[in-house]
Amino acid sequence: MNYRHAYHAGNHADVLKHAVLARVLAYLAQKDKPFAVLDAHAGIGAYDLQGVEAGKTAEWQGGIGKLAQPFPPEVEAILAPYRACLAALNPKGGLRYYPGSPDIILQGLRAGDRMIANELHPEDAATLRENYAGEQRLTVLQEDALVAVKSQLPFAEKRGLVLIDPPYEARDEAERALRMLVQGQRRFQTGMFLLWYPVTTEEFVDELMSGAAASGIGNMLRAELRIKRAHEASGLSGSGLLIVNPPYTLEGELALLLPALARRLGIEGLGRSQISWLTPPRG
Ligand SMILES: C[S@@+](CC[C@H](N)C(=O)[O-])C[C@H]1O[C@@H](n2cnc3c(N)ncnc32)[C@H](O)[C@@H]1O
Repeated sequence: MNYRHAYHAGNHADVLKHAVLARVLAYLAQKDKPFAVLDAHAGIGAYDLQGVEAGKTAEWQGGIGKLAQPFPPEVEAILAPYRACLAALNPKGGLRYYPGSPDIILQGLRAGDRMIANELHPEDAATLRENYAGEQRLTVLQEDALVAVKSQLPFAEKRGLVLIDPPYEARDEAERALRMLVQGQRRFQTGMFLLWYPVTTEEFVDELMSGAAASGIGNMLRAELRIKRAHEASGLSGSGLLIVNPPYTLEGELALLLPALARRLGIEGLGRSQISWLTPPRG
């Protein structure tokens, strides 16, 4: 396990993932009933963009660093929960600290909701525990994500969200991510699931999409943001989310948000986005 998210925090992939995450949490909080969230690959929770790791790659400058100027109001309305998380971590203004998924999720919980954050890397799990010591709504686990998905689902609350966000370091990681989605869905059929994936090569994405489409899971929305051509130079050319059981208004909102992000984050006009149903929506 070499991957450390501190090198990548706030990049274009985080912007997509975290803007959507914050948005769907806001939906869950609209109903009075409590909900739970499992973050199966949590990282440490928050990142210093002036830290050594972020400075080495400067990836955030091509992501959250490009969001300083506001978008048109209809796009800002969708981004509002994400912007609020960033503002809460930077109370004096500016952009020094960047919230990871556990921070965004904790900010989206109400008093009676809860979160399980799972992180396998021993140092990162310890940092995560330290960062949120005293937070009663949080349980930190240090297990393999698939074990956590199997042991934590279904939630007693019967409402909630599962985030599957592996580093895709190992060759079989896409297959394992899909297995998590299938196992999780089997245990928690009404739950919302967000599975993040990188756009590296077309073959990788096509294989993941065929696997997901053939998984038997319905009501799955695909939302993808590309900032340059695949294969070009190094690094990610884009990323996407598979969203199982999305809130019914999310498709329309993403149809506004993603093209705006593609225009803003795309390199030399190569930004592209797509929103499509990988498996048919529930009628
Ligand atoms: C992409 S990062 C997570 C970022 C985080 N979800 C966020 O949005 O802020 C992936 C994390 O998964 C952890 N990880 C890698 N393999 C794992 C496994 N098998 N089970 C659980 N966590 C794992 C890594 O240590 C890393 O912190």
